[in-house]
Amino acid sequence: MMKITVVGAGNVGATCAHEIARKDLCNEVVLVDVREGVAQGKALDMWQTAPIQGFSTRVVGVGPDGYDKTAGSEVVVITAGLPRKPGMSRDDLISTNAKIVKEVTENIIKYSPDAKIIVVSNPLDVMTYAAFLAAKIPSNRVFGMAGILDTARYKAFIADELGVSPIGIEALLLGGHGDTMVPLPSYTSVSGIPVRQLIAEDRLQAIIKRTQNGGGEIVALQGTSAWYAPGTAAAQMVEAIVRDTKSVYPVCAMLNGEYGMKDIALGVPVVLGKNGIEKIIDLKLTEEEQVLLETSAKAVKNVMTVLDDMKMF
Ligand code: LAC
Repeated sequence: MMKITVVGAGNVGATCAHEIARKDLCNEVVLVDVREGVAQGKALDMWQTAPIQGFSTRVVGVGPDGYDKTAGSEVVVITAGLPRKPGMSRDDLISTNAKIVKEVTENIIKYSPDAKIIVVSNPLDVMTYAAFLAAKIPSNRVFGMAGILDTARYKAFIADELGVSPIGIEALLLGGHGDTMVPLPSYTSVSGIPVRQLIAEDRLQAIIKRTQNGGGEIVALQGTSAWYAPGTAAAQMVEAIVRDTKSVYPVCAMLNGEYGMKDIALGVPVVLGKNGIEKIIDLKLTEEEQVLLETSAKAVKNVMTVLDDMKMF
């Protein structure tokens, strides 16, 4: 039996669990939440969509004492933690979310020592690093979801600008999940047409800026962070793993020399398959792109020092 666990039955976790079930990616999805009853209620509601939407994946909800029900999970998605409120940066969440992510990861590994772990909690890059430290498993099995979400926003804005379908827009984005993320126009195309042939540079730079602030734009509008795109983006990573598609996606990965960096989790293109990260693609960047990536890495490192100061590991 193939089982997938999603920890955190907030909006992102619930959206992710439902998408996994809807796509029939496994036999059972276990949804865990620290608030007794919430995961159980949402799981029941989701399971009752099965006759309507036509899927067979069982959806099971458990409370904080239910980690034994997650045993033997193939993939675990960690969405637990607080979301942003207006005016907050993702980095402001570190002191609360680092403790949560550490505890969740330890519980998960205890029952599913072979799991692939996808971190979604913010600040994403540093929480991925924290989960890696807590899990004590090889880095190909612990990584974070940000790049699929951030490229999706970038592609959606390009589709709007051109009045075309987002299907067929290809793009790559590197770096941390924050204001310093690096969308790469030189790796962006619309059905194979380089984006710079279609969009003027000033408009493109405005789209890049809007992408970098894409999460914040939604927080400002609705008072809390996004969930449809984050939840479905995480489910897309789950799909690549369980179907062993070897899809190339931007993923927050522990680097070990790639892009000249070490001991940091940062968004880079990877091949995702049954073993998790099957390969990190080490692109040859232009000097300008490398500088942008290093600036982004520096911003992530700054938040990592806050984690270090917490002396949790
Ligand atoms: C966002 C949050 C989930 O970018 O980080 O919407």
